[in-house]
Amino acid sequence: MCGIVGYTGPRRAVDIVVEGLRRLEYRGYDSAGVAVVDSAAGGGGRIGLEKKAGKLANLTAALAEPDSPVGPSDAGTAIGHTRWATHGGPTDRNAHPHLSADGSIAVIHNGIIENFAALRTELEDRGVEFRSDTDTEVAAHLVAEAYWSLDGQNLGHTSTDDTPGRLAEAMRIVCRRLEGAFTLLVVHRDVQGVVVGARRNSPMVAGRGQGENFLASDVSAFIEYTREAVELGQDQVVEVTADGIVVTDFAGGAAEVRDYHVDWDVSAAEKGGYDYFMLKEIAEQPQAIADTLRGRLTEHGEISLDEVRLSDQDLRDIDKIFVIGCGTSYNAGLVGKYAIEHWTRIPVEVELASEFRYRDPVLDRSTLVIAISQSGETMDTIMALRHAKEQKARVLAVCNTNGSTIPRESDGVLYTHAGPEIAVASTKAFVTQIIAVYLVGLHLAQIRGIKYSDEVAAIVDQLKATPDAVAEVLTTMEPVRKLARDLSGSQQVLFLGRHVGFPVALEGALKLKELAYMHAEGFAAGELKHGPISLIDDGVPVVITVPSPRGRSLLHDKIVSNIQEVRARGARTIVIAEEGDHAVEPYADHIIRVPRTTTLLAPLTTVVPLQVLACEIAAARGNDVDQPRNLAKSVTVE
Ligand code: F6R
Repeated sequence: MCGIVGYTGPRRAVDIVVEGLRRLEYRGYDSAGVAVVDSAAGGGGRIGLEKKAGKLANLTAALAEPDSPVGPSDAGTAIGHTRWATHGGPTDRNAHPHLSADGSIAVIHNGIIENFAALRTELEDRGVEFRSDTDTEVAAHLVAEAYWSLDGQNLGHTSTDDTPGRLAEAMRIVCRRLEGAFTLLVVHRDVQGVVVGARRNSPMVAGRGQGENFLASDVSAFIEYTREAVELGQDQVVEVTADGIVVTDFAGGAAEVRDYHVDWDVSAAEKGGYDYFMLKEIAEQPQAIADTLRGRLTEHGEISLDEVRLSDQDLRDIDKIFVIGCGTSYNAGLVGKYAIEHWTRIPVEVELASEFRYRDPVLDRSTLVIAISQSGETMDTIMALRHAKEQKARVLAVCNTNGSTIPRESDGVLYTHAGPEIAVASTKAFVTQIIAVYLVGLHLAQIRGIKYSDEVAAIVDQLKATPDAVAEVLTTMEPVRKLARDLSGSQQVLFLGRHVGFPVALEGALKLKELAYMHAEGFAAGELKHGPISLIDDGVPVVITVPSPRGRSLLHDKIVSNIQEVRARGARTIVIAEEGDHAVEPYADHIIRVPRTTTLLAPLTTVVPLQVLACEIAAARGNDVDQPRNLAKSVTVE
């Protein structure tokens, strides 16, 4: 939620920052703005500011105007922000950066300053006039006050202003007063070549360049310039100049940081010829699955999970598992439950992270909590995992973002290797999360000595075949695109499934809601007659994922009955069934075929047409596929 970028170095900073914002726009697109630290005519410094409500394109248009206060600047230090509004509507006035009353400080912020009302009253009592409705503006005024109060003190560190370290110290003073979640970046008009950042409960990473350095919400903002990143910890202040990155805690003590190399490059963060990032990411799923499996299945069919920092004994002691996540990650967890319980016989509960900690779940040292998150920064999931840790449960993260908060705070992590997911609607993260949770399930079964049945051995073989199976589905999507154009005028679409097909139905409905802004619901097909069937009317499209008739024929027969029931009431039935399943043909208005696989692996193929359907319906309705309204990629507030 909200993207932040800071740069200092020899290049034209506004270009670097705007390019970074373009890559971070998926994090929020209610408004965008930049501030540059420039030299003022007649000596001294000045802050050039440009900000606009709406998408980044509005900002770039404003920067191109001849009278833009920022456009012509060649300055080498700038900060930029793309906003997902929390406090204050998405207007020019509430767009970031915010200036202090004297114009000396510019601040951008991601998160929520929870005690902002008290701080605002305090500042207003001192005569400060506010120019926005945001919580952020208090930070601008407070940092300016703190900065001026430090006049004449030498505070060490690397700043290039007259009083080294003064801006960073001002930031520390203010951070000690702030409550809530924040990533803050500040620049000062008189402090050339310095950007100071701070983070608590919100993401921020530094990029180490050659004679230039970066700060950003995530590495995609600077990946074009450097793949060397610095993981910043909780409650830390970072002072960035062209020559160095100095990190302290909020008290000013030196802080330890971890450097890491980003293993993907700028091409992964580009559309690469696709109309939308979402289509590119759907197409990347075979590779993402293969990358997530790589090195984790030995040739003897064993599972090796190198990043799980829990000992085998810890895992043997587990007697209950909770899987937590939000949205698509939660749906992946629901799929995982079927597999883990089946393979390990350990009871598994799947919970929305936002509900988990508020209902006093029963947790102890023998509970394993699997926290699933693409971004690793979802606040609901972070708070749920902290609650689990307080209750002594062990937490294992399944995450796609190296160095993010969720893996750092967990007892172990299994990274999905989906690469950067830019489209707001999650696709390749979903399939790789299922793979990762399955690997955890198989690993648990293995180390707990549960004898590998033929079925589990076959699963390992089939996992290896999944990338090809998904690639095969992708070659048959043309009829789905055509169907999508047909369905784009519908009022609602319903999704049905049984067993692992039920979470797939939930995921199909979620994709359609968020992208097409249509009413869409996913149901367990068996629940149909307990209420939802009254939604069926003439022509209502119902998408049904059908399990394989081989192996679980009872499940298959039941869902074939459900298809007949909705069709008898006028539904237009869209059936996703495996090759060779002829039993569904008499009742299907449209059939989408997927390759044969076992029931537990079917979600990896059956979800693909649902992703394509949602994407194409949204496009046909003229919606912004990659940046649907009101959403943000990374939900860093509760
Ligand atoms: C849906 C979607 C969201 C996320 C959810 C959790 O397409 O993207 O529902 O799945 O916000 O995000 P992460 O996985 O980053 O914790």
